[in-house]
Amino acid sequence: MGRRKLDKFRDNELSDNIIQPGKEIFEKIKGNWNQLYFRNQHPVILELGCGKGEYTVGLARLFPEKNVIGIDIKGSRIWNGSQAANNGGLDNAAFLRIQIQQLDQFFREEEVDEIWITFPDPRPRDRDERRRLTHPRFLSVYYRILKPGGWIHLKTDNAALFSYSLGILTSLDYIHNLEYTSDLYHSNLINNHHGIRTGYENRFLEEGTPIKYLRFQISKEKCS
Ligand SMILES: C[S@@+](CC[C@H](N)C(=O)[O-])C[C@H]1O[C@@H](n2cnc3c(N)ncnc32)[C@H](O)[C@@H]1O
Repeated sequence: MGRRKLDKFRDNELSDNIIQPGKEIFEKIKGNWNQLYFRNQHPVILELGCGKGEYTVGLARLFPEKNVIGIDIKGSRIWNGSQAANNGGLDNAAFLRIQIQQLDQFFREEEVDEIWITFPDPRPRDRDERRRLTHPRFLSVYYRILKPGGWIHLKTDNAALFSYSLGILTSLDYIHNLEYTSDLYHSNLINNHHGIRTGYENRFLEEGTPIKYLRFQISKEKCS
C-alpha cells in the first residue's frame, strides 16, 4: 500500500465525519443518526457508492437543513469527501464506510428520506445481476429504510444498466411516479439533479456520453 493511502487512512481514523469499523459510533449508529451524529431532526439523504463524495458534499452545501451521508467501501475515496466537508465546515455531511449490502445494519426502518445512486458500477455480467443497485433485493432494502414518499434517484452513463433498471422498475407494481430521461442535460428533468456533477460524470460528459437519469418512489403498501 502506498504511503499516501496510509496517510489517508490515518486521516479517516481521526475525522469525526467518517463512520467506519473500529470507531465506537459505528456500532451504535443504527437508528441514531440524527440523535448521535447530526444532533438535529433534519431529513436524512443517502448517496450510495459515493466515491469521492461530490454529490454528498454538493447536497450538504446546497441544503444546510438536510443531513447527507455518503456511503462507499473505499476509504481512500471517501477521504476526499470527508476532507472537503471538513474544509467547508459542513456539519451536515458524513461518510459511512460499509458495503451497500449492509445498509439494513446501519439504518432502521424509515430512518431515511431520500436516496441517490450516482454512477454505480454497471455489473454487466449476467452472474452479477444481483449486485446491480437496482436489483429487487436492493429495492426491498431501500423500501425498509425509506420513509413513505421518499424518492430514489439514479444517475448513470451506462445504457445497459439504465435499460435493465427501467425494465425492473416498470415490472413492479409497488414502484410509483417513475420519471426518466436518457439525456438529462436535454430534458425537462434537468432541475431534479441540482446541478451537481460527480467525478465520473465529468469524465463521461467530456467523452460526450449522455447522462441517463430516473427517479421513483416505492409504495409502502405493496412491497414484498
Ligand atoms: C463508478 S464509482 C462512482 C463513484 C461516484 N458516485 C461518482 O459518480 O463519481 C462506483 C463507486 O461505488 C463503490 N461501490 C461499488 N460497489 C459497492 C458496494 N457494494 N458497497 C459500497 N461501495 C461500493 C465503489 O467503491 C466506487 O467508489
